[in-house]
Amino acid sequence: MKVPHEDANWNQQLRRALLRWFPKIARDLPWRKTRELYRIWISEVMLQQTQVATVIDYYQRFVASFPTVQSLAAAPEEQVLRHWEGLGYYRRARQLHAAAKRVVEIHGSEFPATFDEVLALPGIGRYTAGAILSIGADQRLPILEANSIRVLCRLAAFDGDPASTEGQRFLWQMAEAILPAKQCGQFNQALMELGSLICTPREPKCDQCPVIELCQAKQQKKVEQIPRPARKMKFEEVTAAAVVIVRQEKVLLRRCLPGERWAGLWDFPRFDRELHAGELTAAEAWPAERLIDLIRERVGLRTRCVQPLKTIRHGVTRFKITLHGFQAKYLGGKAKAGEELAWVQADELETYPLSTTGRKLAHAWLASL
Ligand code: ADE
Repeated sequence: MKVPHEDANWNQQLRRALLRWFPKIARDLPWRKTRELYRIWISEVMLQQTQVATVIDYYQRFVASFPTVQSLAAAPEEQVLRHWEGLGYYRRARQLHAAAKRVVEIHGSEFPATFDEVLALPGIGRYTAGAILSIGADQRLPILEANSIRVLCRLAAFDGDPASTEGQRFLWQMAEAILPAKQCGQFNQALMELGSLICTPREPKCDQCPVIELCQAKQQKKVEQIPRPARKMKFEEVTAAAVVIVRQEKVLLRRCLPGERWAGLWDFPRFDRELHAGELTAAEAWPAERLIDLIRERVGLRTRCVQPLKTIRHGVTRFKITLHGFQAKYLGGKAKAGEELAWVQADELETYPLSTTGRKLAHAWLASL
């Protein structure tokens, strides 16, 4: 069989087996207790780049604070970002907020229920629109995300690159062809669940698979080779510095400007180095005079007594970042035009949405007191 999903009988068996299997094993996840499109939307956006286990608490806090699309639209952006802190990819949160405003303005506060209207909202692509409307309204729409891609590739023994144009065309076509007439939300979730619990990237539990008899990769003994591994990401090493500037009991935060990575979030003044200096110590990579100059030029303030505080290594997309955290004392000066600065007491730091590394540095500073 070349393309299994062109066989009506194969499709029929797949639908039956998955729809029978899913209710027996479905995890009890908070967004599965609702059919509200608004809540399903929030969960799907959070799940776009984040693991289920991490999303659970974020989702619950988020919908407790913003129970309706109106409440989300009416909230200050900063409060929305604070609820997102630690999830990463903050653009998702800003787009979510923008989309909520659009729903209030042009859909009378009712989350839209047609594919084109949902797809037109900021931050929603074909996957998310299909997921919201299949899960929340049982519309016959396909989905394709990391877990279901792996399942489909194996079911069809597709050994091309799933990320290529042809791969995507093939997989979307398959995702559509296999959909049942009804219960598409259950079916789509079953595909994702199969991928995350059984049909895992390594050592898949084929002995527990409800559709093992339909799996072409299994029949061809190619489960381990499929899907073809993604092209290796080329990591770029970057060195940066961030400075906790202390003025009496307070520290300086600056609000990241539109266009900066953490636009809208607060952070300590931060500087990037063009060349990686991973082998150097904090003080070697960032001599105190250099940091004092940078703070004066970019932020407008004079400082002294620059000292290393903590070095943090972390990854963002294709960057491997070595962030050297420093503390310094405020001497004088006023913020440069365009900079939004705040002097914040230790016990107020929790109320500001910070970048992930900014939060780590804040904790390091608090611990050093
Ligand atoms: N990943 C993305 N959406 C999901 C969902 N609804 N259930 C489980 N995993 C998911």
